[in-house]
Amino acid sequence: MSQSGTSLTQISPLDDKIYVKAPDALKCIKAILAGNGVPSENAALIARCLIAADLRGIDTHGMNRIPSYMERIRQGVLNPEAEPILKQATPVVHHVDGQNAFGFLAAHKGMAAAIESAKTFGIGMASIAHSNHFGMSAWLIQQALDADMMSLVFTNSSPALPVWGGKSKLMGVSPIACGAPGKDRPFILDMAPSIAARGKIYKAKRRGEKIPLGWALDAEGRPTDDPAAALDGGVMLPMGGPKGSALSIMMDVFSGVLSGSAFAGHVTNPYDPSKSADVGHFLVAIKPDLFMSLEEFRDRMQYLYERVVGSEKAAGVERIYFPGELEILAQEERERTGIPLVQAEIDALNTEAKRVGVDPLTI
Ligand SMILES: NC(=O)c1ccc[n+]([C@@H]2O[C@H](COP(=O)([O-])OP(=O)(O)OC[C@H]3O[C@@H](n4cnc5c(N)ncnc54)[C@H](O)[C@@H]3O)[C@@H](O)[C@H]2O)c1
Repeated sequence: MSQSGTSLTQISPLDDKIYVKAPDALKCIKAILAGNGVPSENAALIARCLIAADLRGIDTHGMNRIPSYMERIRQGVLNPEAEPILKQATPVVHHVDGQNAFGFLAAHKGMAAAIESAKTFGIGMASIAHSNHFGMSAWLIQQALDADMMSLVFTNSSPALPVWGGKSKLMGVSPIACGAPGKDRPFILDMAPSIAARGKIYKAKRRGEKIPLGWALDAEGRPTDDPAAALDGGVMLPMGGPKGSALSIMMDVFSGVLSGSAFAGHVTNPYDPSKSADVGHFLVAIKPDLFMSLEEFRDRMQYLYERVVGSEKAAGVERIYFPGELEILAQEERERTGIPLVQAEIDALNTEAKRVGVDPLTI
């Protein structure tokens, strides 16, 4: 197999994956975004958020989203040049009008404002309307962690799963995420309320792989291992039955109803370039050193971490992980090895690079 003439890729002898170094991917994704009219500083931020997902092993929400995002720009349903508008409602409450710009920009602006309020008042909140898909929620948790803040990150999303007892999809597989600073490890919970994130089904389809039975139903309501059947008229299954369904409704209340954005099944799928998405988000930053010093808070988190990972293991379990720890380990490995992609994914990114005349990911 021929290789890139640059340091961009290396072929693993063990699998069919091609490993792309994060800085090379970052450069290429930023150039594609800028080539599609995204101002340079915003392109750099969006590229960082996407590559952060790839590095953490969340490659369902990383650079492979670029072709669908660029199609939205080409179809005129996402504005590459727009700047979200921030308004302060009270000293601790902010509202962002996403202006149909990239969701990454509106959410970043909202979290930055929430963090500033939390520094002074202990808590800050941002409600965001008329936004777009912001990928992996954990990059926002990390934005808060970088400022030593705890956080909540909610978003709504397009219909993918039925409400409990319902037949057709209505609610989104909208992730619920929260974080807190720690010592050895931060706490980062970032999960879709479905058994698996829908991005995992798109990824399986892209890669020609099957999905486990139990993730989704086909259009006839039968369990399926075919990602195309799950996406084409099928539904995702909520985790924990009515509880997963209720969590997805909760994401819609806080992100859609409150913000003034679309809700109740009216957010557009990021892969549907026929109309704007109108996604809503809800972000909260909380200062952890309100009742004790930050050092003491971190010590208490460390005690919790050690109690969790040191818990007596069930039969067959080799190691217990703290929420977010698997992704931190993935990041450590991918910073060494590069990010694994398949050739079809590289081809799709290179098609985007070619369209706007920027250097491809591979030669
Ligand atoms: N923007 C959107 O509309 C959207 C929609 C859906 C999903 N997503 C993103 O997709 C990503 C994947 O979501 P998911 O629900 O498939 O995640 P997941 O099931 O892989 O992980 C969910 C959570 O469980 C923790 N976890 C997993 N295995 C663990 C273990 N063995 N021990 C301890 N903790 C463990 C993870 O650290 C994570 O916090 C998330 O980053 C989410 O933000 C985004």
